[in-house]
Amino acid sequence: MKKLSVTDLDVRGERVFVRVDHNVPLQTGDGAPRVADDRRIAESLPTLRSILDRGGSVVAASHLGRPKGRPDPSQSLAPVARRLSELLGRPVEFAPDCVGPEASSRAAALRPGGVLLLENLRFHKQEEADDEGFARELSGLASLYVNDAFGSAHRAHASVHALARCYPRPAAGLLMDKELSSLGRLLAGAARPFVVIVGGAKVSDKLDLMEHLIARCDTLIVGGGMAFTFLRALGHEIGQSLVDRDKEMEARDLMTLAAVKGVSLLLPEDHMEAKAGTREKGRPTSGPDVSPGYMGLDIGPKTVAAFSREIGKAKTILWNGPMGRFEDPAFAAGTQAVARAVGGSSSFSVVGGGDSAAAVKALGMESAFSHISTGGGASLEFLSGKTLPGVAVLMDVPL
Ligand code: 3PG
Repeated sequence: MKKLSVTDLDVRGERVFVRVDHNVPLQTGDGAPRVADDRRIAESLPTLRSILDRGGSVVAASHLGRPKGRPDPSQSLAPVARRLSELLGRPVEFAPDCVGPEASSRAAALRPGGVLLLENLRFHKQEEADDEGFARELSGLASLYVNDAFGSAHRAHASVHALARCYPRPAAGLLMDKELSSLGRLLAGAARPFVVIVGGAKVSDKLDLMEHLIARCDTLIVGGGMAFTFLRALGHEIGQSLVDRDKEMEARDLMTLAAVKGVSLLLPEDHMEAKAGTREKGRPTSGPDVSPGYMGLDIGPKTVAAFSREIGKAKTILWNGPMGRFEDPAFAAGTQAVARAVGGSSSFSVVGGGDSAAAVKALGMESAFSHISTGGGASLEFLSGKTLPGVAVLMDVPL
């Protein structure tokens, strides 16, 4: 089965509610707040254009930040409406509340080709409570429903879940479809060798992902802060490096599982270390041990070479999480080298959202990857084999 697509809907003369994920960083300075990174907005344009070009109108809605169910002007979507209008090249109206008389009258006044963006859905506590009454109110704004917010699909929130159930034919947008098919390709039918690279600070965030993918991949590369939990479990000295002490047992179990499944699990062979709490530049370690009083803050040159060699053999790659404290230029080399190795390979390469996507963007290498997910938590949950409530609720159609 696949999901009904926005392109299957007859949108001519209809108002379409489009749940987008325009949860983007804002830049606040002297003037009006501006969108600091518009990738999520740009990625929603194909769905919006598909509706507008076929004579429909759009009521778009998103959350931004975590305003805890109350209006908070610093988390308004007004700057997003301005950027969306620039990117779409047409006017975008803005409703200062997502429900109520003004939202209703502005939606009713939309002409074919018109776009209305609603204010932050999370200004109402009913959104995160998946409240049916709130969903019914939102459903009064449009006759059709499309969810293009892959990044929010792991949240059973009203605009993602209860609202979809108010419509007989809830459909997926084009970004949602692209995310599901690209990430889905990693879970079923990935070309081998399939190399999974995980990094980032915490093992606990990615345990489910690693466990699910060990059954599907050939090589699991573990870098970043989380590698120290594995190294400590193997008896290495990790100095003051990051560690999830209560996850050492799980790390050991994962290494055993990898051995049982015949998956080679690679850990860093050396690091760039610096004294904890200072701003000094790093120095390479001679092996996997970190000096007492020092922190491992990036993978070292031997590790870069070993990881790059494995990456070079892959036909499919998933990369999720940086190799160290990449936001500090002194410790960015390892993450950049992995980005170059993955981007330079001719494999089907997918970057999980969040920090690794930011590293790819900082290097200006977006076009070198097959797919860069717009989902952080959503892509982790999907690749861990979990059902996403916002996807499950969309209409199934035969393949
Ligand atoms: C994200 O940025 O991952 C999504 O927009 C979901 O946001 P949330 O974690 O605040 O629910």
